[in-house]
Amino acid sequence: MDKLHIQGGVQLKGEIKISGSKNAALPLMVAALLTSEKLILDNIPDLADIRTIAKLLEHLGLTLTKKNNFDACRYELCAASVNDLTAPYDLVRKMRASVLVLGPLLTRFGKARVSLPGGCAIGTRPIDLHLYGLRLLGAKVDLDDGYINAFAPSGLIGNLIAMPKISVGATENIMMAATLAHGETIIENAAQEPEIADLARCLIKMGARIKGAGTGRIVINGVKKLRKANHKVIPDRIEAGTYAVAAAITGGAIKLVGFSDDNLTAFWEVLKKSGVSVTKLNKSILIESDKKQLLATDVSTQPYPGFPTDMQAQIMSLLSMAVGTSKITENIFENRYMHIPELVRMGADIFQQGSTAVVRGVPKLQGAQVMATDLRASVSLVLAGLAAEGETLINRIYHLDRGYEKLVEKLASCGALIKRIN
Ligand code: UD1
Repeated sequence: MDKLHIQGGVQLKGEIKISGSKNAALPLMVAALLTSEKLILDNIPDLADIRTIAKLLEHLGLTLTKKNNFDACRYELCAASVNDLTAPYDLVRKMRASVLVLGPLLTRFGKARVSLPGGCAIGTRPIDLHLYGLRLLGAKVDLDDGYINAFAPSGLIGNLIAMPKISVGATENIMMAATLAHGETIIENAAQEPEIADLARCLIKMGARIKGAGTGRIVINGVKKLRKANHKVIPDRIEAGTYAVAAAITGGAIKLVGFSDDNLTAFWEVLKKSGVSVTKLNKSILIESDKKQLLATDVSTQPYPGFPTDMQAQIMSLLSMAVGTSKITENIFENRYMHIPELVRMGADIFQQGSTAVVRGVPKLQGAQVMATDLRASVSLVLAGLAAEGETLINRIYHLDRGYEKLVEKLASCGALIKRIN
């Protein structure tokens, strides 16, 4: 199994091109199920999660052509001959976002059978909110043998859906289902993430009637069918934030190319409070820091536009080297602190009190052999390794392959001494 070897202590300097957003690309690819015509998606990142959703879509009968276009991929997807309405356990368990096929299959074909995704490293991650919304649209849903069986033989019917809790995936699933439902659907307390707004922009190009995506209230008027479209995926804000921390934690300077600052405001605020300079340039952002000037600050994860849970592990690595004590509170997932014991092995002074982590800054971290159990936790260890003295060896890097395109190449281009070994 591959590992990452990092020789820490190098100030990173250079430019990194930000890839297309994984979390936007996944639902966009699934949206191809909503029409028999071709959906062309540009700027899809080359990642394991993308290959997983592609496999699932092909299993359902969708044809998919991938074209490498310089450093990003174009996918042409056509769901003209879907011949299987079952998303099997083997494909769904690998990635929870697979459950997004439920709404589109149900609304277009009147039925779907999708495996329950099971647990995952960062918490129980139920799908009750997805089912709550689809039931309100008139779907009959039952669970048997680890599968969700959903039926709507005469089609879904628009309704008012007040979400009891904010969920990104459930908002996407319900919004896609509502595009082909009869009449009007209103999703209240919808998730407001930029990836949802991007999905809606594409669906609108496909002929959907959607207003308010990116706000807490989305109104969808169902149409009879959707048509072909061409869409470019937005840049990955979490990848951008991660490389911003790479610059900050090594006392370096990295220009994030192809990324503007508008959808990561809460994160930039925290970075600035911790003493890091964030300068908006033309279609890029320059991050500069003096490692000795890092200051403690408190962080609390929230749904968008709050501080993203997907940046919590990375900011913890940074604050573990800041002067003073920071409190980090995780409000989205109950078990998203698997990186704490590993950071502690590298010399960080962190202890967990329920959903809060108390981080007392230390002047230096020490390289160690570490391993992580999810994507963002893994990358937080890479960041700590870049700043630490000595060598860090990171195991189980398949998590990183799920969500970071050309991680090693991008960091090495800024001077990092990082290599993949097996
Ligand atoms: C998406 C992102 C993930 C990010 C998360 C929160 C993708 C592919 N993944 O995941 O990177 O960390 O948003 O920003 O876009 N919940 C329920 N019932 C449900 C669904 C969710 O209780 O039916 C809970 C979850 O357990 C969690 C919270 O709601 O505590 C938020 O989860 P959700 O927004 O649904 O996350 P995902 O869409 O799975």
